[in-house]
Amino acid sequence: MNKFFLCIFTLLLLKAELHAQFNIIPKPLEVNSTSSGSFNLTDKTPIVFKQQSLQKSASFLNGYLSRFYGFSLKQSKAAAIKGIYLSLSNKTSSNPGNYALQVKNEGVFITAETEEGIFYGIQTFIQLLDPTAKGKTMEIPFVQIRDEPRFQYRGMHLDVARHFSPVSFVKKYIDYLALHKMNYFHWHLTDDQGWRIEIKKYPKLTELGSMRKGTITGFLPGNGNTNIPHGGFYTQEEIKEVVKYATDRYITVIPEIEMPGHASAALTAYSYLGCTGGPYKVQETWGVFDDVFCAGNEQTFTFFQDVIDEVVALFPARYIHIGGDECPKTSWKKCPKCQQRMKDHQLKDEHELQSYFVQRMEKYINKKGKSIIGWDEILEGGLAPNATVMSWRGEAGGIEAAKQHHYAIMTPGNYMYFDYAPSIKRDSLTMPGTTTLQKVYSYEPIPADLPLESGKYILGAQANVWTEYMNNPSKIEYMIFPRMSALSEVVWSSKENRNWDDFQKRLKQQFERYQLWQVNYHHIPIDVPAETR
Ligand code: ACM
Ligand code: ZN
Repeated sequence: MNKFFLCIFTLLLLKAELHAQFNIIPKPLEVNSTSSGSFNLTDKTPIVFKQQSLQKSASFLNGYLSRFYGFSLKQSKAAAIKGIYLSLSNKTSSNPGNYALQVKNEGVFITAETEEGIFYGIQTFIQLLDPTAKGKTMEIPFVQIRDEPRFQYRGMHLDVARHFSPVSFVKKYIDYLALHKMNYFHWHLTDDQGWRIEIKKYPKLTELGSMRKGTITGFLPGNGNTNIPHGGFYTQEEIKEVVKYATDRYITVIPEIEMPGHASAALTAYSYLGCTGGPYKVQETWGVFDDVFCAGNEQTFTFFQDVIDEVVALFPARYIHIGGDECPKTSWKKCPKCQQRMKDHQLKDEHELQSYFVQRMEKYINKKGKSIIGWDEILEGGLAPNATVMSWRGEAGGIEAAKQHHYAIMTPGNYMYFDYAPSIKRDSLTMPGTTTLQKVYSYEPIPADLPLESGKYILGAQANVWTEYMNNPSKIEYMIFPRMSALSEVVWSSKENRNWDDFQKRLKQQFERYQLWQVNYHHIPIDVPAETR
């Protein structure tokens, strides 16, 4: 071959190689780019769809384009040439969320069996856009993609009790979930350090329980106190607004109302709900506190039933998370009412009293047509009959739940706690553990030692974002990015398609997307040995 032809040949190879690199996270099931060429997206390209229900997906794309690229597209019901076509097929879905995306000369074609499938196709399309592009025209390389989620539960949690997040940031957080094809937002609304949801029948919950007088500084036990009041809560109108925002993005919001522990803020508002009667205070420090709801007092159950009535009216989710974690039994051991309850119901210890509490609330919540989720402590003293277990103290709780034919969601601390530092090189105050990006990426939600037939009880996985050491949105972003991108692949991509080296290559463009979104993220030098990242 003479030099000229060698040169042309090399260029062609290079072009093919360029086209072969699609940096989509989470990795789709199949990506094929057999023909070279590209579709030219401009501000004149229409989005064409017939079914009104696809409006949400079209609006999301337009919102993204106008926010990050400075233009939006006209929506059209009539056929047009060279458009972005969204269409629902009339097949019933085998796996809700699956979709196909094709980019060819005639346009971009996204088809799916469900609305959320179209929405996920839009998320993938967004990742075909060059994050560094300037101007109102973009070349989208020809490609054929077929994709579907691996797990039906793909979640992120946010603690708004330890530090309050305003509605504006909660919405941003929901957008981050949407951009990662996640479908559950677990909203941790009540805890010792603040009660964050307006309950009309109990106004003091937010009047008194949403505000603490100060916050410790430094790592627990702290080196001082800010002595600056910290608080905030969501009105029911705001809650509805957030739920609608999430629903428009095919994300289900699961509210968490903690019981019977983590009760200080509620007890500060209504001291008769505690075993001792107080005095109580909205906590200014972190940890686990002995001030818990009295399980012997009938008024406690009346209170929670009333709260649940209002919660159920606000959240269409089929699940209500009732907490159930870290409930010390000290007060119950000394409380005559709690001890009497144990006698009356022949409960042999305080774990069974906790189980009584949770089962009684479960019955009430089930009667409302909803199911409960609880942290894995709800296994102690006997699992409530229809409960789903969130396994956080490792995987044992999830395994035990699945063996008992209960559903489980995996959130084990070592892999899924994004309040742990992202690197052993500490550059900010965090919880003591370290969960590197690679560790998150390596997580397999179906435990190896679970009997094969029980795998179906593992609904998926979730990362938890406890905010003791995150007192502003920027810090939260730093703690979730890029680990959330790794998580999205754990819960969405097929097991066979997961590959750390390949993920790292795709991550480079994901960093460019973060820059486009102007989010704070943990930069990982790609050439640093994996263990120290
Ligand atoms: C938890 O981290 N206490 C569920
Ligand atoms: Zn009591």
